Amino acid sequence: MGRVAGLAGVSVRTLHHYDEIGLVRPSTRTAAGYRAYAADDVERLREVLAYRRLGFGLREIAELVGDPCADAVAHLHRLRGLLLERRDRADAMVAAIDRELASRAKGLTVTPEEQLQMLGARLYDAIGGAYTATRRTDPRIAEQIWDALGDARTVLNVGAGTGSYEPADRQVTAVEPSAVMRGQRPAGAAPCVAAAAENLPFDDRSFDAAMAVSTVHHWGDPMAGLRELRRVARRVVVLTFDTDEPGWQDRFWLTRDYLPEFASVLAGFPSLTGMADAIGARAQPVPVPWDCADGLFEAYWRRPVAYLEDHVRRAASVWTRVGLQTEQRAVQSLGDDLESGRWAERNGDLADLDAADLGLRLLVA
Ligand SMILES: C[S@@+](CC[C@H](N)C(=O)[O-])C[C@H]1O[C@@H](n2cnc3c(N)ncnc32)[C@H](O)[C@@H]1O
Repeated sequence: MGRVAGLAGVSVRTLHHYDEIGLVRPSTRTAAGYRAYAADDVERLREVLAYRRLGFGLREIAELVGDPCADAVAHLHRLRGLLLERRDRADAMVAAIDRELASRAKGLTVTPEEQLQMLGARLYDAIGGAYTATRRTDPRIAEQIWDALGDARTVLNVGAGTGSYEPADRQVTAVEPSAVMRGQRPAGAAPCVAAAAENLPFDDRSFDAAMAVSTVHHWGDPMAGLRELRRVARRVVVLTFDTDEPGWQDRFWLTRDYLPEFASVLAGFPSLTGMADAIGARAQPVPVPWDCADGLFEAYWRRPVAYLEDHVRRAASVWTRVGLQTEQRAVQSLGDDLESGRWAERNGDLADLDAADLGLRLLVA
């Protein structure tokens, strides 16, 4: 067992665990009577570890390697496809790093301490270069937002970023205070005004609707910003986060088991009820699809290995706001649990879900 562990680059403990749960069992014995791996066992271990490195849970792997219809060639084809997907993600990461290098060359560098103190546009001027690596429109979330806009023809998108959720079939005006984010808006995107939510340079009721997506928690004064949205538009649609429910930190395994510091990032953030009251809104849950195309903090709840990737974390501000040491500790601990199978044991039930309610809420007024 020790020799196979050394050759395979895993711990003996991991092999013991695979043996205990019947995933890979040493099926022969040495002359001295010790249990040993036959060639077929090693082949199976190779497949298990390949799927493991691609982020599959132990339960899924057991099904994959136990599939009587899949021979070694079928496994290799499947693995090849998964690796190509990973290569695409790596290409996106290189592109994000290039963008960040370009931002830094323009003098937009900050110390980690400064990063932690940063809020709002300053934060996004520092980290925004990494945004487009994973942040894009998720069609299911978009549909919910666009439905909520009703028949609005003119729409103000506040904290617009790169414009992920701007509807193409309405007349949109964007508001975005960060120059780095404005600079990444695609050619042909809606016109964008450099301003902050708390002080919108528009007359009362000048838009049919105002929307704000994944941005309110970055505003210096969320309530003042929401009142501004209410002032300039007849309808208001805000995608935000619910911290009212007791034990909300436990809704998501990432904050429950690895990053409890998330709660301090949201300390001082207004209650959902308070925000809803400020604009006269009702709240609807926004489930996060298991394959969410927008790499928001909660997006990878069923694809945990994604959180080990730097470009994924760099595109969600929470990771910068908790600080480097906390981030490293959380990632190390998650990596260990993914490797040992502990994460899969604790969260095996998620594999059957297509979407999860992790606290995202749409306020519609
Ligand atoms: C997570 S991004 C969301 C961007 C976009 N709405 C989306 O869904 O992709 C948050 C954005 O809020 C912007 N922001 C920060 N402070 C703001 C403020 N006071 N008023 C308006 N926008 C702000 C940031 O610059 C950043 O672009």
